[in-house]
Amino acid sequence: MYKIVLASRNKKKIRELETLLADLSSKVQVLSLDDIGYTEDIIEDGDTFSENSRIKATGPARLGYIGIADDSGLCVDALDGAPGVYSARFSGEGATDGSNNEKLLSLLENVPDEKRTARFCTVVTCAFPDGTDFQVEGVCEGTILHAADGEGGFGYDPLFYYAPLKKTFAALSADEKNAVSHRGKAMRGFVEKFKEYILKTGE
Ligand code: IMP
Repeated sequence: MYKIVLASRNKKKIRELETLLADLSSKVQVLSLDDIGYTEDIIEDGDTFSENSRIKATGPARLGYIGIADDSGLCVDALDGAPGVYSARFSGEGATDGSNNEKLLSLLENVPDEKRTARFCTVVTCAFPDGTDFQVEGVCEGTILHAADGEGGFGYDPLFYYAPLKKTFAALSADEKNAVSHRGKAMRGFVEKFKEYILKTGE
């Protein structure tokens, strides 16, 4: 049995990974940080999604598990890639989705439509107890609107317009978003690679 630990305490994320790995359920057990009694603080002080994702996945790997972690954020071209790794705390201490979105809108106030291009990025790391790892990236391109639109999702979703579906991420259903999102792409990429790993290691 492969024991993989998703470096998260978010039950939704755990269930999502279990669903993605459902056809391997006889070989793979998905655990959370709580399941393994992991209490250490994880300090995400990397400069890139790749570094932060690796920092998170390495904790469980050091304890002998296969560690999985994702790190995501929004990169806006007119802001030289900001908020990037600072997406969650863009508007400072006590930041909320609302205050982050307000800050983003005010910084882009005089930026014309054609320069409001942006992308969501996710890097998933799969770290092994022997110190090796592999990473998978997922990217989704869009533009930043001048005002929020849509009720669903979280974070910057109400401002992120996805042209192929002519809607913001906040106006998509969870399934619609998952099919095209940075995170959905990266997680599916991880599952593909993990299946290859299982075939190679042959348990
Ligand atoms: P995390 O690494 O998944 O925790 O994402 C960090 C931050 O990036 C979140 O707090 C959000 O502000 C932003 N973010 C990441 N993914 C999304 C998304 O799918 N929609 C909107 N905001 C996102």
